[in-house]
Amino acid sequence: MSKPELLQIGPYPEWDQEALDESYVVHKYFEADDKAALLAEVGPSIRAIATRGELGADAELIAALPNLEIIAINGVGFDAVDLDAARARGIRVTNTPGVLTDDVADLGVALALAVSRGVVGGEAWARSGKWASEGLYPLQHKVTGKKAGVLGLGRIGFEVAKRLAAFNMDIAYSDIAAKDYAPDWEFIADPVALAERSDFYLVTLAASAQTRHIVNKEVIEAVGPDGILINVSRASNVDEDALLDALESGKLGAAGLDVFDGEPNINPRFVALENVVLQPHQASGTVETRMAMGQLMRDNLTAHFAGEELPSAVI
Ligand code: 8YV
Repeated sequence: MSKPELLQIGPYPEWDQEALDESYVVHKYFEADDKAALLAEVGPSIRAIATRGELGADAELIAALPNLEIIAINGVGFDAVDLDAARARGIRVTNTPGVLTDDVADLGVALALAVSRGVVGGEAWARSGKWASEGLYPLQHKVTGKKAGVLGLGRIGFEVAKRLAAFNMDIAYSDIAAKDYAPDWEFIADPVALAERSDFYLVTLAASAQTRHIVNKEVIEAVGPDGILINVSRASNVDEDALLDALESGKLGAAGLDVFDGEPNINPRFVALENVVLQPHQASGTVETRMAMGQLMRDNLTAHFAGEELPSAVI
């Protein structure tokens, strides 16, 4: 049987690449200098898209592939896929939930610790010789026992909260409704009210058009001059201009960020700030997790072409 033709939107680790190349005729969209020419040439043969969470597939791309059957995302977020365009044509969409939850939660907590304890600045202090020349590193801020607000208590938010509970934090959360699996933590529906009571404000909610800039100026300023904001979800959940203004003016204490508008080209205003710890969207970036994500993405593709039930369908 001939291999199905697949459009690959971004690079993958070599183990995923090899496995995809084995089962599909892979066209590398990300390597094409003339993307329109590639689509004109192979568009009608493409039956599957393999993409990543932050890259997705927009309506224009979907429209250029008249025989597309499935969009398989290597990532949990499906905000960058135009679901309406896919739904209108009966195109299936799959993601990789579950397998990355622990890693994303771990990095969220690592950022909270790194920001509060000045881990990055402390490293530079020791490495640069300032410890010897200037003396002790400036005192930082305690983590254990503080108040945490988790915005979005889905899989990832729940794991973040569990980890913070081990630091004896007083935890509250916001979501569309109270969660029956979180009886010990206070539910505060209003994101601003949640921010007002939080030393640490952790943004872990799935992004959508409805959550765009849910963390706005008011929320950011409610986290306040002594507060720390962590975002391991999507940049679109936060009003980045308001965030930068608050970080520059001191209306927000500090931030730990894994996601940015326009990434990988981040706003240079971030680079000039000392009250941030910046990460290159790597919350799910461990060998173990990326192997599991790649496997699950391929399992979805395999199931689709075998006419079987999709292991993790979005639609
Ligand atoms: C990855 C992500 O950056 O899961 C997501 O939605 O954004 C990340 O885990 C990426 O999609 C990995 O391929």
